[in-house]
Amino acid sequence: MTHLRTSTVMGLVLALSCVLSACQSPSPDKASLKYSEELYESCVPCHGESAEGNPDLGAPAIGGLELWYVKAQLRKFKKSQRGWHIDDAAGKRMLPMAMALNTDEKVDIVAAYVASLPQTRPEPTLEGGNPATGKIYFATCVQCHGADAQGNIDEFGPPLAGASDWYLLTQLQNFKEGVRGTHADDVTGAKMRPFSMTLPTEQAMKDVIAYIGTLSE
Ligand code: HEC
Ligand code: HEC
Repeated sequence: MTHLRTSTVMGLVLALSCVLSACQSPSPDKASLKYSEELYESCVPCHGESAEGNPDLGAPAIGGLELWYVKAQLRKFKKSQRGWHIDDAAGKRMLPMAMALNTDEKVDIVAAYVASLPQTRPEPTLEGGNPATGKIYFATCVQCHGADAQGNIDEFGPPLAGASDWYLLTQLQNFKEGVRGTHADDVTGAKMRPFSMTLPTEQAMKDVIAYIGTLSE
């Protein structure tokens, strides 16, 4: 009884000191933020300090992507379900980086860090896309990517608004050519692939990307 009461009092004292010092020492949050930043250091050479991407390296802006999507893609690269195709030069640069995240915990932590960064909304680089035509094409994309291209987790469709436009073009071409979305275990890639076929030409792809650009403003 006495023992119980003592531990209750101790608990209260601890809780109170926590309130008074705002639980600052030791701070597990700070420790894990530092660890996330350390893990993200390995991504900086290609994706940049603010995850703004680097077109010269084919590395897209990834800051502020949905957590579930970042995790899923890192796992895919790790399992060689993405980036395995002989013609996927950019994917091959990313694959070993995901492999280097050698535990699930590391994947989760770095993914959470990337998702927590603000979107960088890269400047458009493509020319000649017609957003009005693109809007018509985009009607088929809404089901999985959302009317505002913010993504739809129920269909595993990632957000497209705010993405690097050159990267969207590469990915649409990759899906269409079977460079992405054709691995036997890539279920979500297989969902996307047929819809890349609804865009008959590169011009159609640029049009839809120009429309997605208007949703990013
Ligand atoms: C050597 C350069 C390089 C490094 C380092 C690198 N990446 Fe990448 N990453 C790429 C490239 C290139 C792509 C685009 C692949 C493609 O075109 O399919 C990519 C794609 C991605 C994607 C997919 C984005 C999407 O919209 O599908 C994610 C997520 C990602 N990287 C996260 C990371 C993380 C996290 C790290 C650090 C642990 C990292 N990358 C390190 C080059 C790199
Ligand atoms: C049936 C659902 C579905 C439809 C419809 C669909 N997508 Fe997708 N899309 C997906 C899924 C799922 C993914 C993620 C694939 C993966 O996990 O690798 C994706 C990925 C993408 C990507 C790659 C994004 C990235 O960050 O790498 C682009 C670009 C894209 N879709 C564009 C479109 C466009 C444009 C349309 C309409 C013409 C469209 N999608 C229609 C499900 C769909």
